[in-house]
Amino acid sequence: MPDILVIIASPREGGVGAMIGRWFLDQAGQRPDLRLDVMDLSRTPLPPIQSGNADGPGEEARALAARIAAADGFVVITPEYNHAYPACLKLAVDAVRHEWAAKPVGFVSYGGRSGGLRAVEQLRLVFAELHVMTLRDTVSFHQTPTQFDEKGRLTEPDGANGAAKVMLDQLIWWATTLSQGRAARPYTP
Ligand SMILES: Cc1cc2nc3c(=O)[nH]c(=O)nc-3n(C[C@H](O)[C@H](O)[C@H](O)COP(=O)(O)O)c2cc1C
Repeated sequence: MPDILVIIASPREGGVGAMIGRWFLDQAGQRPDLRLDVMDLSRTPLPPIQSGNADGPGEEARALAARIAAADGFVVITPEYNHAYPACLKLAVDAVRHEWAAKPVGFVSYGGRSGGLRAVEQLRLVFAELHVMTLRDTVSFHQTPTQFDEKGRLTEPDGANGAAKVMLDQLIWWATTLSQGRAARPYTP
């Protein structure tokens, strides 16, 4: 059973990201075929970028690397900020290197009219550099607040719930397959 790390990439504690995160964790939590870990970047100390010849990674970088290393796959839940993804996500991505490699990532995005899709397309370029397999199918929320009621529940859940199932099915296939592949033959980026 693959270990999936869900990264909630909003820098705003209690923002829309928290609401989307609750919805997604409810969906993923119902599945018997994965184990979940959750990293909320609004509450995660992020390390400074290492210079390369410093005394090695600091405590925050080691903690982050351990969480990434323990995962077989990832889901990134990201808003769109100025046609891109938030800076806290780039910090987290850049703080770790080989621990990302040969694993899949799925995306849940949200924003205004674009539904965060431009943030996702930029993330595909970034993750390619780290040898991360990005999944074709994503979940996106356009004009997000209009889709949830005052209790944070989706008013018309079928579309998003179905999209989450498609993405999770793909994620589990890739996470399981690449985990077996790494065990059979170490991947050397
Ligand atoms: C600095 C900033 C820039 C934004 N830029 C965009 C954008 O380019 N496209 C878009 O669709 N929404 C944009 N938005 C709207 C956010 O995607 C939307 O408000 C989202 O729900 C914010 O998520 P959060 O509450 O988790 O921060 C922007 C919001 C902020 C704060």
